[in-house]
Amino acid sequence: MKIAVLPGDGIGTEIVAEAIKVLKALSLPFTMESAPVGGAAYESHGHPLPDSTLQLAKDADAILFGAVGDWKYDTLERALRPEQAILGLRKHLGLFANFRPAICYEQLVNASSLKPELISGLDILIIRELTGDIYFGQPRGRRTATDGHFPGAEEAFDTMRYSKPEIERIAHVAFQAARTRKAAGSEGRVTSVDKANVLETFQFWKDVVTEVGKEYPDIALDHMYVDNAAMQLVKQPKRFDVVVTGNMFGDILSDEASMLTGSIGMLPSASLNSRNQGLYEPSHGSAPDIAGQGVANPLATILSAAMMLRFSLKQPEAAARIEKAVDAVLTQGLRTPDIYSVGTTKVGTREMGDAVVKALG
Ligand code: IPM
Ligand code: MG
Repeated sequence: MKIAVLPGDGIGTEIVAEAIKVLKALSLPFTMESAPVGGAAYESHGHPLPDSTLQLAKDADAILFGAVGDWKYDTLERALRPEQAILGLRKHLGLFANFRPAICYEQLVNASSLKPELISGLDILIIRELTGDIYFGQPRGRRTATDGHFPGAEEAFDTMRYSKPEIERIAHVAFQAARTRKAAGSEGRVTSVDKANVLETFQFWKDVVTEVGKEYPDIALDHMYVDNAAMQLVKQPKRFDVVVTGNMFGDILSDEASMLTGSIGMLPSASLNSRNQGLYEPSHGSAPDIAGQGVANPLATILSAAMMLRFSLKQPEAAARIEKAVDAVLTQGLRTPDIYSVGTTKVGTREMGDAVVKALG
């Protein structure tokens, strides 16, 4: 088994170093090889996703990814910006299924901006389609308008589109995830989020998900417009079990959901293709404002490594060991600044990583 390690920019290098520490402590039979990505790769290779990095990722069983991006690259042409690295990896590896669990740790129930009773016990899973929608739809570009409100004016456009197989495969992923969760005690519900009241693409989405849902009579299916979903997520988040949605709505709703848990610094994610090859990354970004200070929360990345062991490397016991260790350090009262509250112990990135290693037992 081979893991490609792509730390990236900003806090990426700091948090990935802690996840590597934890992985090494497990002494499992896999190799790790690192490569630059994002702004770091632009500096060293002139491109955010150099061929050598892409090849390493393609040849690996799993990719552990930190984060990319920095304000200083905002003025580069789009093809050279750090974000293109993650979009390119998703596209070239066909990583269409993005899992973003939002779990509220009991120890952090007071770190959320929502009332404890709303989020205590929260355990929801957002499944975001990751290789289609307006993110990748062609055509896109700039041109002179020939119609619309201002013919003759300069305009820009993107294309929202989904094919039936794209919707079917992500719907199956969602229903199967709901089944697995149901076996472990969850409700067994999929909420499909769309904008069928306005958009052709998402009326189609709703129709196709409904069709697929007939193959899963044991799983309840409901549909919700995205604006209402944004509201329900903060009004009664525990009404959700599995949420499935398109690329753009999923981008927005998953950031919102992360805050239910107290800090985006706690949320792992997995992006899988049909061969179960996966890219594992924290749901948060490169946080250039706190980079290099040793204060970033490494737990989202460490939990992403646990997801990697479970989904792509078939090491469920090792995954559970990591998850238990994270729970233990929270119980010990250790907190990075993003989850700190009075009465707990403030620690830095490295101390948090060391504590997890120690708690592995
Ligand atoms: C995410 C990020 C990315 C996205 C950016 C960095 C391209 O926000 O993974 O959610 O929009 O998908
Ligand atoms: Mg996002």
